[in-house]
Amino acid sequence: MAIRAIIKVPDERLKQLSEPVEQFDEALRAFIDELEETRLSGPGAVGIAAPQVGHFQRIVIVDVSNMRKPVANHGYMILVNPEITHWEGFELGREGCLSVPDYTGNVIRAEQIRLTAQDQWGERHEYEMSGFEARAIQHEVDHLDGITFLDRLVSRRTDLFQRKVYQKKSNKSGEKKSK
Ligand code: NI
Repeated sequence: MAIRAIIKVPDERLKQLSEPVEQFDEALRAFIDELEETRLSGPGAVGIAAPQVGHFQRIVIVDVSNMRKPVANHGYMILVNPEITHWEGFELGREGCLSVPDYTGNVIRAEQIRLTAQDQWGERHEYEMSGFEARAIQHEVDHLDGITFLDRLVSRRTDLFQRKVYQKKSNKSGEKKSK
């Protein structure tokens, strides 16, 4: 296994559309292991999407179970070919991203979503989620469509915030973790 380099803005590859996964084989599972290792090697990211490491397939990993404020969530999720099938409500919240290391931003997202996705074996699952977990998923699925949170800001002038120091994994603050 290996830790992959994270592609950062303004790299044009972050705008690339990722392709559906069709082969659920050992190569896929080995890649997912590397993606997770890369997520864990960084500054406490709750999520990562395959295109962030230059692999343009529809794969994301999300795990919000280490948040400071415990909320109901699904824990560690590997989502292959995720599709959001239902959106409800909306809410403004702060987001960060491994590909945008110097800033956080306020983004409007659906408050509740329904989602279907396959796992690393190709089995299909359905999920319902809300709040921060739903936000994390929407953020990661955007990466598969070549969209970063910077594209979702209502205003770059009022909704973009420079980070002083990129938060380390050991930091207790759970509210500005990256996705
Ligand atoms: Ni991101």
